[in-house]
Amino acid sequence: MTEWIKVCETKPLKNGDLLEFDYGDKNILISKAGNKVYATDRICTHAYADLSTGFMNENEKTITCPLHMSIFKLEDGTPQNLPAEEPLKTYRVKIQDNWVYILME
Ligand code: FES
Repeated sequence: MTEWIKVCETKPLKNGDLLEFDYGDKNILISKAGNKVYATDRICTHAYADLSTGFMNENEKTITCPLHMSIFKLEDGTPQNLPAEEPLKTYRVKIQDNWVYILME
């Protein structure tokens, strides 16, 4: 089933923020860069590392894994360098009535 899930209010979310959001068995990373909100899987595709403890580059709109330093684009999850080769899953985001929603399928 596909549905929009309410995640958080938009107001407290600042550029550079990384937020953990769990839905069922999914571990999701909510991030804000360049006034845009992104949602990706939170666990690195290379090995087990939680990207919420990684480093965001707001200008590049990327997240760097804290374990082996692979860099992923927040927009489409693609890795920019090794060792990660698989993209992060990304989720559609919408803002409605000052709330962030993500589309879960
Ligand atoms: S666990 Fe993320 S790059 Fe290795």
